[in-house]
Amino acid sequence: MKDRLKDKVIIVTGSGRGIGRAVAVRAAAEGAKVVVNSVSPQKTCEAVEKEIKDAGGQAVSILADVSKEEDVKKIVAKAVSEYGHLDIMIANAGIAWAKPVVDTTLKDWEHIFSINVRGIFLSDKYAVLQFLKQKTGGKIINAASIAAHDGFAGLSAYSATKFAVRGFTQALAKEVAKYNITVNAYCPGIVDTNMWDDIDIGMAPILGLEEGKRASFEMFAGTVPLGRAEKPEDTAALITFLASSDADYITGEAMIIAGGVSMV
Ligand SMILES: NC(=O)c1ccc[n+]([C@@H]2O[C@H](COP(=O)([O-])OP(=O)(O)OC[C@H]3O[C@@H](n4cnc5c(N)ncnc54)[C@H](O)[C@@H]3O)[C@@H](O)[C@H]2O)c1
Repeated sequence: MKDRLKDKVIIVTGSGRGIGRAVAVRAAAEGAKVVVNSVSPQKTCEAVEKEIKDAGGQAVSILADVSKEEDVKKIVAKAVSEYGHLDIMIANAGIAWAKPVVDTTLKDWEHIFSINVRGIFLSDKYAVLQFLKQKTGGKIINAASIAAHDGFAGLSAYSATKFAVRGFTQALAKEVAKYNITVNAYCPGIVDTNMWDDIDIGMAPILGLEEGKRASFEMFAGTVPLGRAEKPEDTAALITFLASSDADYITGEAMIIAGGVSMV
């Protein structure tokens, strides 16, 4: 399945590791020109750029914070200055942690919303503005989660951000369909990434498990009907499909890819 994204210019936010990295690598292998982004440290972003180039692909990287408007403008400007235009925005950057609501501070709440929701709003807004400027269509693909369909105890703030992404994705899809811009979201399940190190700190005590051993990840992974945790490459396969012309007639969807762990 080579060249499905041949010469497409694609931004993948939060692609220094995890799902974003897998998407960036897969998109480049499918012929795309990739803008790799992460917030810190710089070396993660540059390492993914190098990995793609070493494999014969095309990539540039930019350190930028998706919660900051000027930074998001710079990410889009980087795509245009390097490759001339933009075709696809993968708004992937996100954070997660687990805490009971009674222990969640206003600062916690606002911080997670600033990345998981404001970051998506800004990424999508500046992608749409670029598509309109080019007078082309375009594709936007947002990071949601199974937690966008089903709330999880201990993940109230995270679940709230992902439900917000799903609603925003639907509304924006309706708004920009007339410009041939599609907007979809992907909803992974239990993906084996470093994000679970962050979740486990709060989730292990909530579940009565030993903290620091990714016990909560193992517990949730053990509930997956297909019998294994999700790999970032599994998620990247769906995202690559949504970014390809095979998905031209799909918009406003929040597609679950979770090995059966959520079937809502
Ligand atoms: N891992 C899972 O089980 C899972 C499940 C469902 C949804 N998701 C979602 O998928 C997306 C990627 O998750 P992951 O597991 O790969 O996470 P991860 O923590 O492994 O990687 C996240 C990446 O985002 C970057 N990032 C964080 N804040 C940023 C910011 N403000 N600006 C720019 N980049 C930023 C980090 O530098 C990192 O490169 C997230 O939106 C997450 O909520 C993950």
